[in-house]
Amino acid sequence: MNLLFVVSELAPYSKTGGLADVAAALPKALAATGVTVRVVTPRYGFMTAAGEYVGELRAPFGFQVQTARVFREARHGVETFFIDAPAYFHRGRKLYGEPDDPARFAFFSRSAIELARWFGEPPDVIHGNDWMTGLIPVYLRSALRGDPFFARVATVTSIHNLAFQGFFDLRDLPYFGLPGDLQRGPDGLEFGGAGSMLKGGILASDALTTVSERYAQEIQTPEYGFRMDALLRMRRHDLVGILNGVDYDEWNPATDAHLAARYTPADLSGKRLCKADLLKRFGMPVELDRPAIVIVSRLSDQKGLDLVRDVAWRILHAGAYFILLGAGDPRYEVFFQHLRDTAPRRVGVYFGLNEALAHQIEAGGDMFLMPSAYEPCGLNQIYSLKYGTVPIVRATGGLDDTIQDFDRVTGTGNGLKFRAYNANRLMEKIYEGLLLYRQPETWRALQRNGMQADFSWARAAWKYRAVYERVRAA
Ligand code: ADP
Ligand code: GLC
Repeated sequence: MNLLFVVSELAPYSKTGGLADVAAALPKALAATGVTVRVVTPRYGFMTAAGEYVGELRAPFGFQVQTARVFREARHGVETFFIDAPAYFHRGRKLYGEPDDPARFAFFSRSAIELARWFGEPPDVIHGNDWMTGLIPVYLRSALRGDPFFARVATVTSIHNLAFQGFFDLRDLPYFGLPGDLQRGPDGLEFGGAGSMLKGGILASDALTTVSERYAQEIQTPEYGFRMDALLRMRRHDLVGILNGVDYDEWNPATDAHLAARYTPADLSGKRLCKADLLKRFGMPVELDRPAIVIVSRLSDQKGLDLVRDVAWRILHAGAYFILLGAGDPRYEVFFQHLRDTAPRRVGVYFGLNEALAHQIEAGGDMFLMPSAYEPCGLNQIYSLKYGTVPIVRATGGLDDTIQDFDRVTGTGNGLKFRAYNANRLMEKIYEGLLLYRQPETWRALQRNGMQADFSWARAAWKYRAVYERVRAA
């Protein structure tokens, strides 16, 4: 099995969220199952150290043949190719959010296809991720239809977040090198007046995956379907949910180099040192028996931060520390900064991306809040389990699949979970957490339930492999 994995962000080089973690870990796990994996990703302007120059490729785009430089790196049995096209990818620290995003990622998709040709042998499967690669199967089915090199190449698209649909101006189709009549009709890319690259991926891929079983069901309903639920119901027989894993080489408190101390389920004493270290970092008094409620998150409505805003004062009145690492919506930054300024001995905030601090918060916290409005998979709650930081989550998507509500009587469950999207329901679970925290033995049992669970990538890798085998045979 020969796979081309195409993705717009890749940890540790470029990251806006969990997609970058998946891009780093899944190919590695696939290689371990015997798949030959090549990863393709943009070489953004700030990635000056990524790979070694290996040559140039040409891709027809914008009514001309454009060239891009190719850089290569080999690690953990995976070859990674970085596409260097300064006109599209050199935009400061930003990955997305530019007015010409459609052209940037259409070009990325088109050049990833040409990279396959550049290797000289066609892959069995091209696996793309989210709207940024949605046009790949569209190119193969239209502009490249009849090209013998690609005649037997199958395609898979993974949906990591249905909210981002890759809108573009349909008049640009010819500029992207696609037939202008690809607008309407059963294969049309038209969606609510504009074009949607994600719609292209959903319609034209041989198989679709998403990142939890629960989310695979949810996106077929109007409530979670972002208006694409009917399309997804149409393709439900080709859609599977495969839960993301965790790369325990990166996220393991027993080996994590970012931490002040390391610890295991059998000996949690290092976790107290991590907590002390964390409180000091935020300039707060070190009171180790005071529970620390923490968050690491993009600051977006998806993450249920309006509920957190509603309960923030109650958390402080209940006597807990509150620590947040996040970047995004300025409305939330203003609120949490205000909270910090009002209660600096109880609240710590850091706005921006900080990988080391994300690890330190996972280790130093006692409870991790993730009350998302929707959550395709979510990685932080799974990292929290491993770090003995009890997740408090809303029962949606991957949160529902990974977290079981703790039952005091039987001692089963690995976290605390509520259902309705409501601040009072969230606060009830926080109060329950604070009560359990006061019962050290019960609390340790709850922590250990989470720490001992295994969410490594191997299981998911075999499931992806099965999807590849199926589309190849078809
Ligand atoms: P999403 O992809 O929707 O943001 P996930 O839980 O799947 O949610 O993944 C989020 C990833 O981004 C995790 O690796 C998390 O540690 C990381 N992350 C989020 N915000 C920050 C931040 N401000 N600094 C560092 N890492 C962050
Ligand atoms: C998206 C989702 C998140 C998921 C991640 C990786 O960013 O919001 O739930 O874990 O992709 O698949």
